[in-house]
Amino acid sequence: MNFVDELKNLKEQIKFKEKFNLDFDYDNIVISGMGGSGIVGDIIQEHYTKKPLIAIGDYGIPDFVNENTLFIGISYSGNTEETLNNIIMARERNAHILAITSGGKLSDLADYKIIIPSGLQPRSAIGYMLMPLLNTFAPVQDSVIDETYNLLESMDKSHDEMRKIALKIYENSYIPVILGAKPYKSVAYRWKTQFNENSKTFAFYNYFPELNHNDTMPLKKAYRKDEYLYFVFNSDNPRIQKRIDVTQEITGESFNVVSSPTEEYFQKLFYLIHYADYVTYELALIRNVDPTDVSTIEELKRKLA
Ligand code: F6R
Repeated sequence: MNFVDELKNLKEQIKFKEKFNLDFDYDNIVISGMGGSGIVGDIIQEHYTKKPLIAIGDYGIPDFVNENTLFIGISYSGNTEETLNNIIMARERNAHILAITSGGKLSDLADYKIIIPSGLQPRSAIGYMLMPLLNTFAPVQDSVIDETYNLLESMDKSHDEMRKIALKIYENSYIPVILGAKPYKSVAYRWKTQFNENSKTFAFYNYFPELNHNDTMPLKKAYRKDEYLYFVFNSDNPRIQKRIDVTQEITGESFNVVSSPTEEYFQKLFYLIHYADYVTYELALIRNVDPTDVSTIEELKRKLA
């Protein structure tokens, strides 16, 4: 599948119905994953608050992990060192081991596993990796999935707006800075990583209200102030919207507002994710770099193996 077909595949992925059938009690949930796989742990951590849930994108597991923990390893390849390391540690603590993967060593280590289709870039499989978590912990109504499908399809058909933003970034050599807000802080981070991997550009992120306690200073007085292009997501939280407005007013910066056509959580989540898919893909084309190329990451993994 070429890269644009991978992007177009996202709308099919949100129809993925697999879930974990858990017929036992547990106290807490830990999700371990890196990069394009790890992001789904961050997304669910922001959204699901009924039980303690933490997402780890690192080596090591918390001291509280025990036989009452659901420990979920997410790795598209199933061979990511940090994730496998943590799964082995969690097994030693007798945690329930769950996995979402397309194969690899991870699938052999799990008590419960969901195998997703292989052959995609891990970052293009975000729907396949996220849906089993949502289906298990916070199911989405079919009607919402259908509407989201239509929304993503319309973006696949027409993404001139995203191409214009990519051109603006390219023509001015801007460094993108994405300023998110709950429950889309993780999406701001996803934008950053899509710029990194697809477009091969640096990008930075922060979120409201936290950035009003630090990044607000360089917003006004940074070195090379003209080299950054700021993005915010529209917010239906009046305090966040007020912060966005006042921050622009007192720093003299103006932010590019990415406005979702709907405030419904799931639709907005995938709208914002897909928006960045296209901005970063178009920027790769304009820069004449291969959006699929992650050879340096792969070389690094080989050298560490
Ligand atoms: C995304 C990508 C990387 C990987 C990361 C972890 O497309 O290539 O960010 O997701 O290196 O690998 P996996 O996802 O196989 O665990």
